[in-house]
Amino acid sequence: MAATKPPVIRISRVTKSYGQGDSAVHALRGPSAPGTGEPLGVSLDIEEGDYVAVMGSSGSGKSTLMNILGCLDVPTSGRYLLDGTDVGHLDESRLSLVRNRKIGFIFQSFNLVPRTTALAQVELPLAYAGVRAAERRRRALAALELVGLADRAGHKPNELSGGQQQRVAVARALVTAPAMLLADEPTGNLDSRSTAEVLAIIDRLNASGRTVVVITHEDEVALHAKRVLRLVDGAIVDDVRRAPVDGPPPALAAEVPA
Ligand SMILES: Nc1ncnc2c1ncn2[C@@H]1O[C@H](COP(=O)(O)OP(=O)(O)O)[C@@H](O)[C@H]1O
Ligand SMILES: [Mg+2]
Repeated sequence: MAATKPPVIRISRVTKSYGQGDSAVHALRGPSAPGTGEPLGVSLDIEEGDYVAVMGSSGSGKSTLMNILGCLDVPTSGRYLLDGTDVGHLDESRLSLVRNRKIGFIFQSFNLVPRTTALAQVELPLAYAGVRAAERRRRALAALELVGLADRAGHKPNELSGGQQQRVAVARALVTAPAMLLADEPTGNLDSRSTAEVLAIIDRLNASGRTVVVITHEDEVALHAKRVLRLVDGAIVDDVRRAPVDGPPPALAAEVPA
């Protein structure tokens, strides 16, 4: 057997509640303790190189989990180790450092900066990280090349299609070489052709070793993942491995001739 690396993500007995007392909403609660019914919290390991889809109906806790995994929010209780760092108790400025260094975000609504060229958008996270101008440009162009948009570097969001805008957002997410890509409904606003293009790019990023977590309610998206989790009422009720962590993602494996 290959030597096992520590997981990129390890959450142990994590709960998240909004509000207090009787009116509290337990958005993440995990299974209930037998007898008392007390929430035991959500526990989850994600290995380096995995490609995980998190599914569940509206209100099941997907965004709450994504916010915690992405260090956009902290758990009410429990522990979160990201790439070996305990991020459960960091203050906001430290959390934002961790976000910048370790996580690339892709959102349903693209979240691009208006009136700003694709190249400048992709350079932005590098500017925050203190990378110098020439190096920023080189790396941003390489990221745009990777998503097939090198020829659109000078275009602003309103000069790009929805699919192209999301590809710019993917380039922005990967340009810092993060430990993990975290995508919340990345194809929710795209037509079927653009959906296929964006998923193909995410598949290739995973095939080249990036860990990917994608939140989705679409079966079509989940079919691209190596592992599919299902959330119901703040608990993981299903955890299915569809392809090995260290192999290609299912959609690419299908293309390889036997
Ligand atoms: N900021 C908040 N304040 C109060 N309740 C919230 C907040 N965010 C989410 N919730 C509640 O937590 C539960 C899970 O929400 P969410 O994680 O957004 O689910 P999903 O993304 O699966 O639709 C829902 O009942 C929702 O109403
Ligand atoms: Mg949501």
